[in-house]
Amino acid sequence: MAAPLKIGLIGTGGISRSHLPVFKDFPDKVKLTAVCDIFEDAAKERAAEAGVDDIYLDYETMLNEADIDAVDICTGHDTHAPIVIAAAKAGKHSLVEKPMGNDMDECRKMIEETDNAGVTLMIAHMLRFSPTTEAVKKLLAEGELGTINAAKIDINMNAVGSLREGHWMLDGKAGGGIGMTNTIHETDIVRYLVGDVKSVTGVKKSISKRLLNGAEDMLCATLEFENGAVGTVMCLWNSPRSPVSQGYTLYGTEGALYSLPTLPIYRGDHFGPVVVSSPTRDTPETAPINRRDGSPSREMKGLEDIMGHFKQLEGGNHGLPSDNCFSNEILHFAECCQTGKEPISSGKAILGSMKLIFGIYEAAATGKTVQLADL
Ligand SMILES: NC(=O)c1ccc[n+]([C@@H]2O[C@H](COP(=O)([O-])OP(=O)(O)OC[C@H]3O[C@@H](n4cnc5c(N)ncnc54)[C@H](O)[C@@H]3O)[C@@H](O)[C@H]2O)c1
Repeated sequence: MAAPLKIGLIGTGGISRSHLPVFKDFPDKVKLTAVCDIFEDAAKERAAEAGVDDIYLDYETMLNEADIDAVDICTGHDTHAPIVIAAAKAGKHSLVEKPMGNDMDECRKMIEETDNAGVTLMIAHMLRFSPTTEAVKKLLAEGELGTINAAKIDINMNAVGSLREGHWMLDGKAGGGIGMTNTIHETDIVRYLVGDVKSVTGVKKSISKRLLNGAEDMLCATLEFENGAVGTVMCLWNSPRSPVSQGYTLYGTEGALYSLPTLPIYRGDHFGPVVVSSPTRDTPETAPINRRDGSPSREMKGLEDIMGHFKQLEGGNHGLPSDNCFSNEILHFAECCQTGKEPISSGKAILGSMKLIFGIYEAAATGKTVQLADL
């Protein structure tokens, strides 16, 4: 059995806490050996939580001096590319939080540098590692929903109101805005499940006065997939006193499924939308509306007829090592680093998801349909 992969954590803010359980739960696979943050107190706090005493205040020193095989990068968006590139030059593998980089040039450079150095680059799209996604993938492969014709992405959270003034997520220069911060999760997972997107149109607005340098709190887009499916994206970051949502709906020729928001989302355990599918199919005779002539075929029975017949997918790990998607993601990263296997969310696999977000931004800026192949 291979020795555990030795990992250095860079960035000890909010999301880094969700990356810690795997080190306690799977000590034979991964070991946290160093911690780094530009703020000493933040680094010390997380290091104490993880039982690590090798602490750094700059990542270059950590890359040169720490006993690590790889880094887990949990910093703001504009630091992802420089840290991955520095890690590659130091011969270290990188797991980097989403979004991959701040523009397509950065993303391509990250792939080039890690390829040249022969190290693994994986983007931390943890939804790809949730048991729910695994179950949905299986359901789609078995043809339960037939051919997926349409997808709807819906994000609604009052993030602008809950972030402190000047926070980097509110600053377009730092890669802030709802698209890079939240939309990317759902567009990536829908792309993973349905296929690549061919073209997009979009509108982007910055309503809140707290936003800086073009960061947006409203993003609205239409998608056309390579396989002919269509999609919509409606993402709101400035929606006080409205229901919180972050999820997707898939519509197929044989049925539909949708995810339910599971806040608080950063807890890590059981993460992932709860997916509900429609196993009961109406025939022309049993449907409330006759499919042949549109006349009522029977009396409507109430809400169930209007909403459809849905059931919640079974819980459990669905073949993954745990029910914690962050842990599954980090275990997959370790396996790829140690075997040379291409990660499910490698830089190359995620490039299309970055094109999707940057394509929506470009469509919003130009008012034109953007072909993602051109990006
Ligand atoms: N997967 C998810 O569900 C999820 C959720 C939240 C955030 N994220 C992503 O995680 C990343 C971090 O987000 P966050 O909410 O934890 O942000 P945060 O601001 O809470 O934490 C970032 C930390 O990085 C540190 N940092 C900044 N520059 C650094 C540098 N050069 N060297 C070392 N440390 C540095 C900061 O001091 C801070 O402690 C972002 O990419 C974000 O999009 C993912």
